[in-house]
Amino acid sequence: MAKMWAGVTAGMTDKLADDFNSSIAFDCRMARQDIRGSVAHAKMLAATGILSPEDAEALTAGLEQLLADLESGALAIDPSCEDIHMFVEQELTKRLGDVGKKLHTARSRNDQVALDLRLYLRDEIKELQALVKELMAALLEQAKAHKSDIMPGYTHLQRAQPVSFGHHLLAYCMMLQRDLGRLKDTAKRMDVSPIGCCALAGTTYATDRRLEAELLGFSDIALNSLDGVSDRDFCLELLSALSILMMHLSRLSEELILWSSWEFKFIELSDAYTTGSSIMPQKRNPDMAELARGKTGRVYGDLMGLLTTLKGLPLAYNKDMQEDKEAVFDAVDTVKLCLGVFAPMVRTMRARPDRMLEAARGGFINATDLADYLVKKGLPFRSAYMISGQIVAKCMAGGKVLEDLPLEEYKKFSPLFAEDLYPEIDIRSCMEKRISEGGTSLKSVEAQIAAIEEVLKK
Ligand code: ARG
Repeated sequence: MAKMWAGVTAGMTDKLADDFNSSIAFDCRMARQDIRGSVAHAKMLAATGILSPEDAEALTAGLEQLLADLESGALAIDPSCEDIHMFVEQELTKRLGDVGKKLHTARSRNDQVALDLRLYLRDEIKELQALVKELMAALLEQAKAHKSDIMPGYTHLQRAQPVSFGHHLLAYCMMLQRDLGRLKDTAKRMDVSPIGCCALAGTTYATDRRLEAELLGFSDIALNSLDGVSDRDFCLELLSALSILMMHLSRLSEELILWSSWEFKFIELSDAYTTGSSIMPQKRNPDMAELARGKTGRVYGDLMGLLTTLKGLPLAYNKDMQEDKEAVFDAVDTVKLCLGVFAPMVRTMRARPDRMLEAARGGFINATDLADYLVKKGLPFRSAYMISGQIVAKCMAGGKVLEDLPLEEYKKFSPLFAEDLYPEIDIRSCMEKRISEGGTSLKSVEAQIAAIEEVLKK
């Protein structure tokens, strides 16, 4: 069959070329948006007198019926159509006859696809935001339950200073809060209607682009038609935001994997989110976290792929741009999948404060406090640091921790040491004393909890 776009060519392409050219296998998911856009287009064409009210009525009713039939399953998408835009127009024309052929007045698939994608991603961003919030809520719940439980904080993956488990989890809430902000920014810049830019140069009809944009819920219109049809910045922005979000999930994954290892055992993931091994009966594998860590590469790939596709494209539309959809769809699907499984996995994980405390006690994570003690007694920090280092070395050699070393031993290193040292190097007090804003003291952790609760309320 000749193509709907048969013109100067006969529209009789080779089957291989058809398959190669076709995007319906993936753009069919924008059917609802395509129809919604077409309804607004028909209304605008009537409001401006380009189409008669009767024609617009027929088109609108036909489109709505088409959508209802798609949703009920009465109508199936024809995979032999080139893309979703062609399918909708073809089906409408099949049903309405010549009136159906009037819908494509004063528009092109170039502005149509740019519109559909914005409408589609606008909805997806809302879903993503809700899922991010669910994960934040799960982290927050755990943070509240463990706001006073001590764990060793690490730098270089070496035990460094005591922090509360709640403080550590709240760090991830902060990252996710920024992810929410990035999604919001993306949605804001996406909130510009390209429809009416037509193929590339605008149109000779007296259309009302602002009315059409308003009908579709956009705050503004693209002011340059060439830019309107060629702009895919919103896809790149979304992919960037999602890449950063996945990087955060990947860091959390790494910690969950480490923490659930025998070596740490700071947490136990629920059976529902743990797999066994086909040959090793003792295994509890954190597959979900590993998969999320792995899928991060895939989302970065989507970003790199599209950046590279768009690089060097001359204005305006080029078929290369058809490659945009699979990249963003894949990234959106992947992130939704990961967030969906992370929220319940985090919510159901069991923390082991006993194991955390044990690790916190054995790692000299109060050595900074030992030095600070001497500083408060008048020694310059660098000298205090030196003495503390020597004491730590002595304890290590003797299989002791700082809390256990008798005062006589301390006095051999400095006459400044006195009985008041011990409360200063008690692990819990080391955590509680970190009262600077944003630190790990209970007061600060509670302030963070309140801040995240505020974000979740919105
Ligand atoms: N399927 C196309 C895409 O996704 C729609 C736009 C086609 N425009 C064109 N001039 N061939 O980009």
